[in-house]
Amino acid sequence: MCGIVGYVGSKPALNVVVEGLARLEYRGYDSAGVAVLTDGALMTAKRAGKLVNLRNALDEEPAPEGTVGMGHTRWATHGPPTDRNAHPHVDCTGRIAVVHNGIIENFAALRAELTERGHRLDSDTDTEVVAHLLEEELRDGAGGLAEAVRRVCRRLEGAFTLVVVNADDPDVVVGARRNSPLVVGVGEGENFLASDVAAFIAHTRDAIELGQDQVVELRRDKVTITDFQGRPAEVREYHVDWDVTAAEKGGYDSFMLKEIAEQPRAVADTLLGRIGTDGRLTLDEMRISDEQLREIDKIIIVACGTAYHAGLIAKYAIEHWAGLPCEVELASEFRYRDPILTRTTLVIAISQSGETMDTLMAVRHAREQRARVLGVCNVNGSTLPRECDGVLYTHAGPEVGVAATKTFLTQLVAVYLIALYLAQVRGTKWGDEVFAMVQLLATMPEKVERVLETMEPVRELARSLADERCVLFLGRHVGYPVALEGALKLKELAYMHAEGFAAGELKHGPIALIEEGLPVVVVVPPRARAVLHDKIVSNIQEIRARGARTIVIAEDGDDSVVPFSDTLIRVPAVPTLLQPLVATVPLQVFSCELARAKGHDVDQPRNLAKSVTVE
Ligand code: AGP
Repeated sequence: MCGIVGYVGSKPALNVVVEGLARLEYRGYDSAGVAVLTDGALMTAKRAGKLVNLRNALDEEPAPEGTVGMGHTRWATHGPPTDRNAHPHVDCTGRIAVVHNGIIENFAALRAELTERGHRLDSDTDTEVVAHLLEEELRDGAGGLAEAVRRVCRRLEGAFTLVVVNADDPDVVVGARRNSPLVVGVGEGENFLASDVAAFIAHTRDAIELGQDQVVELRRDKVTITDFQGRPAEVREYHVDWDVTAAEKGGYDSFMLKEIAEQPRAVADTLLGRIGTDGRLTLDEMRISDEQLREIDKIIIVACGTAYHAGLIAKYAIEHWAGLPCEVELASEFRYRDPILTRTTLVIAISQSGETMDTLMAVRHAREQRARVLGVCNVNGSTLPRECDGVLYTHAGPEVGVAATKTFLTQLVAVYLIALYLAQVRGTKWGDEVFAMVQLLATMPEKVERVLETMEPVRELARSLADERCVLFLGRHVGYPVALEGALKLKELAYMHAEGFAAGELKHGPIALIEEGLPVVVVVPPRARAVLHDKIVSNIQEIRARGARTIVIAEDGDDSVVPFSDTLIRVPAVPTLLQPLVATVPLQVFSCELARAKGHDVDQPRNLAKSVTVE
């Protein structure tokens, strides 16, 4: 949801900034722009569309030599994705430039004030007011760019992470953070600012996480961080534990293909270090004591999109293993009802990015009601872990493709670990029962690998369905969220109408959608759950009798489905609760291949952004 890069050093800033933007393009690709300070002058360039349009425009001009600059890649909120609305935005003098991630909620009032005072605003954006407010502050002698930014921030409402340069202060880049992420990269004689460490990982792996409502002044050899009042701020320094190769395609055609292939390793990494030699689980970062976990009497999971589907699966595991009532709620809906929360409610917030505003707002609401909050997150240094009582990192490594793949599987592993840990602490399962399940979890990387090795028929199937208009997905029990996830992947990547249904609900309405030749993907539970299994086999027969083309995902050795499957996709036999780890993979491959067959960019599907930092 907009990517920001800032640089102060001795290298040509334009190269550093554009290279950083390329690594942040997953955050938004409606337009891109840069600003570079050279010899006391400000050069800006911006273009609607993907970064390639900006690169082409820059190639036509002599490159500026300046070593201080910044850039932006946009996911449009205010104003259409045009050149005019692309960032950076400048003030009336053309010497101050601003890039922004978020939404300034009081921009209309500020814009009216500024226009009244004679400013000319050229864009439809909320961002541009900041450049003009800074112009006034600096004209009135605010005492340097950082102080001017602090003063302006105190007047802004909403979410605003900003980076600013001023041609009259040519050795400085200033950033401010409220809500949307901003990380400092600390180099040798150079420093960086970015929405995500991926932007500067090729230059440094030493980072400083900016906190809420902080302003950073970046010089070549100095980083100064304060709060919005100018008081020195507490910050967290950390070392990034992955390198630049993790943020590159590594020979794959797309990040999504690479990330699907990385799933066995990602699942293994999520388990790493969490299973003791005695078979007991240790979840050190939880920061919620065993005593407190024993007091919990209800769990509410909040999340969005794919993470919400992981939450739906978590509910089955938590209720089954830990014997605790568990609700799952779309984070965007949570605070608009009156959820009953007490000190003995545990809220689990699942978010890959740790920056999804809907999820963060749900967390804040839960904490205001005194509930304990546990985050499940993939991005170290993001906002979610800071705002939760405890956190469990998924350790999937950077996920660049907008469609969540490896992070979904690792979220599942994380919630299984939480459910088993609760069972261990609360004594709802014997130690050896927990250990047996943990041992099964440890075999999952190899099982996921086996699924990946057998995906060619799925790719062929996907290519053959590229001209279809609609695909339905059915499942029962944990197969239902898998069906929802399969449908979401197809919608976002192939732009096709796709719906996931609980197979038992079919007869209550959706069966009317079935017509001759309609592809319907059915996730069949393991035979060990005989009742569920047999019911879904009946559902397959019902839809096939009405002309559906059945695409059946069933475990190895399940021959009962053979007569009713137009296409049969095999997955390894695993316990029911763990089946989503193997059953989701063919659906990811299916959507990815179908979208590729339609000529879509699977890493950057239209209208989407990787982290959604607005509500
Ligand atoms: C899924 O493919 C999407 N990228 C989207 O649904 C995503 O899962 C959702 O926006 C939540 O993101 P988060 O995990 O970063 O909070």
